Amino acid sequence: MGRKKLYIETYGCQMNVSDTEVIFAIMAGRGYDRTEDITDADIILANTCSIRDNAEQRIHGRIEQFAKEKKQRPGVIVGIVGCMAERLKEALLDSGKVDIVAGPDSYRNLPTLVDAVRPGHPQIDVMLSHEETYADISPVRMDKNGVSAFVSIMRGCNNVCSYCVVPYTRGAERSRDPRTIVREVCELHAAGYKEVTLLGQNVDSYFWKSKEGTVDFADLLAMVADVSPELRVRFSTSHPKDISDKLIETMASRSNICRCIHLPVQSGSDRMLEKMRRRYSREWYLGRVAKIRKEMPDCAITTDIIAGFCSETEEDHRDTLSIMEEVGYDYAYMFQYSERPGTLAARNYPDDVPPEVKTRRLNEIIELQNRLGLESNKRDVGKTFTVLVEGPSKRNADELCGRASNNKMCVFPDKVHKAGDYVNVEVLSCTSATLICKLTR
Ligand code: 5AD
Ligand code: SF4
Repeated sequence: MGRKKLYIETYGCQMNVSDTEVIFAIMAGRGYDRTEDITDADIILANTCSIRDNAEQRIHGRIEQFAKEKKQRPGVIVGIVGCMAERLKEALLDSGKVDIVAGPDSYRNLPTLVDAVRPGHPQIDVMLSHEETYADISPVRMDKNGVSAFVSIMRGCNNVCSYCVVPYTRGAERSRDPRTIVREVCELHAAGYKEVTLLGQNVDSYFWKSKEGTVDFADLLAMVADVSPELRVRFSTSHPKDISDKLIETMASRSNICRCIHLPVQSGSDRMLEKMRRRYSREWYLGRVAKIRKEMPDCAITTDIIAGFCSETEEDHRDTLSIMEEVGYDYAYMFQYSERPGTLAARNYPDDVPPEVKTRRLNEIIELQNRLGLESNKRDVGKTFTVLVEGPSKRNADELCGRASNNKMCVFPDKVHKAGDYVNVEVLSCTSATLICKLTR
């Protein structure tokens, strides 16, 4: 029998993209090849997200599609893995359309689950672990260009923000052995990669203790950045309560650590922040922003915002708009609050902001961010940046695109360079999404 074909769809965050790479590595070791064609697959997996209700609704729609595939080709195995598998557990089997349910800490067990599936006998493993970090597994990279890779440095989350399902779906926080992280980064560098993004739910609480001493996130970031000055380092996500002066100073001390910090604010209202259990105030947050700006005036700051959390008033909402103005975010991910069953908020506070009010507030937030993003881009016109080329621009085959250190997308006419090259560009003009540039020396 030939090797079997595995097809995976990935939803949700970068962490899930990284997990999908781990799943491919585990399955490759057991005789499965990756396919990007669902009609060719022996196994169809969806690596899922539970963060908001609409993320889950999308997956339910996909399960219906997968069922059609199964009908045409009996024997095809359908699995739901990741956060939604962990949250819904056996309930996912009720439809009879799913053969495997596996949570984020069960991926080593996937080959066994696949082998055990029989008609009418689905398999489930949703045990969470205090130790699993998949530290020894070399992920099968899914990126197309071989330039930029994700490296998972920790799993789980201990924060228990009241709106958030992640602590329940990904379990307790645990850090990965720094030696395995540095080894993986060295391998990526040797394979020609030019950029790594260190991933964790809350990277600032990374901590490793061994006989040789302790390693915190700032130490780890320095170790990774010192692998090569040619290798760019990014990281996500920081928590405003934990981002330390040491970390900010470590970033400032190394030019290959990219000038972009994702610092989710969620709300500008102290009353909302308290209710969200974020454990910082507006004043504290702005203090962290001031420290970042002092050490790295050129550092982009991006954020996540939730509109319409429980009991949010117009005044709370205006506080969110005003903190956005005050920080002048370069980019933001913006959401309406979506109640998640089992969270502290779902258990304690009514989801009482009417949907049309949530939508209106979200639209005001988006409109403001569009202006802030454009203003931020306009400030870059006339500056020169070093860009890591990602490949041809989507719009125009005669142009290349790539990101500046501040993570902004740059496009420029260029017939010489290729993905993975560093080039210097001057910014000529901009849109709200892109810096339009020319090559310079
Ligand atoms: N509703 C809406 N947005 C949420 N987020 C997390 N949980 C919810 C929820 N229940 C957002 C937060 C977080 C981002 C990853 O998703 O802004 O930072
Ligand atoms: Fe990622 Fe959170 Fe979605 Fe899980 S629920 S996939 S951790 S965004």
